[in-house]
Amino acid sequence: MAASRLVVLVSGSGTNLQALLDAIDAHPEGPEGFGARVVAVGADRDGIVGLERAEKAGIPTFVCPVKAYATRAEWDAALTAATAAHEPDLVVSAGFMKIVGPEFLDRFGGRFINTHPALLPAFPGAHGVRDALAYGAKVTGCTVHFVDGGVDTGPIIAQGVVEIRDGEEEAALHERIKEVERTLLVDVVGRLARHGYRIEGRKVTIQ
Ligand code: GAR
Repeated sequence: MAASRLVVLVSGSGTNLQALLDAIDAHPEGPEGFGARVVAVGADRDGIVGLERAEKAGIPTFVCPVKAYATRAEWDAALTAATAAHEPDLVVSAGFMKIVGPEFLDRFGGRFINTHPALLPAFPGAHGVRDALAYGAKVTGCTVHFVDGGVDTGPIIAQGVVEIRDGEEEAALHERIKEVERTLLVDVVGRLARHGYRIEGRKVTIQ
């Protein structure tokens, strides 16, 4: 079976993208392989390390900044077209800090996953780590889920747990979450690609 085609969307340092690239590189091609390959990396801004990582790996990139379009709907259409041009089987939001619109979801719903730095449904949104600390939670972690029309509300595929240390700062906690997150994302993407999956209501089963 041909490797699944992945388009990865990033907004920042792209360490989750790098973990995917490294895992794919570490596997042989063919039936014993990872089961997926990154065919393009998209971003909502220029000049980020995530794009540099893609360029270094020789992977095509595209950039769709929200501000370059007159309306959010036009941005949504442009992001959808730029992503669709690479004919992905799966789209991975790996630190992509924008909420996609209805056109993107119509096209890629059910094959668009996101990784979030908290144990959903707790602490959705752009500040999952900060919000868990401010709440006084004792454990947090990361969640890989399918994206639906809400903010971090789609069906959960897998989660990783991280204990919060007394007095811990946001940056240090986020780094420890990301260590767990990278392993989880690589594992989930590989299993989805190799085994296939079913989404029934909120339940995701990897076959
Ligand atoms: C990750 O922790 C990801 O969960 C988070 O951004 C980080 C990206 O790291 N995403 C969100 O907060 C989305 N709401 P990376 O650029 O090093 O992969």
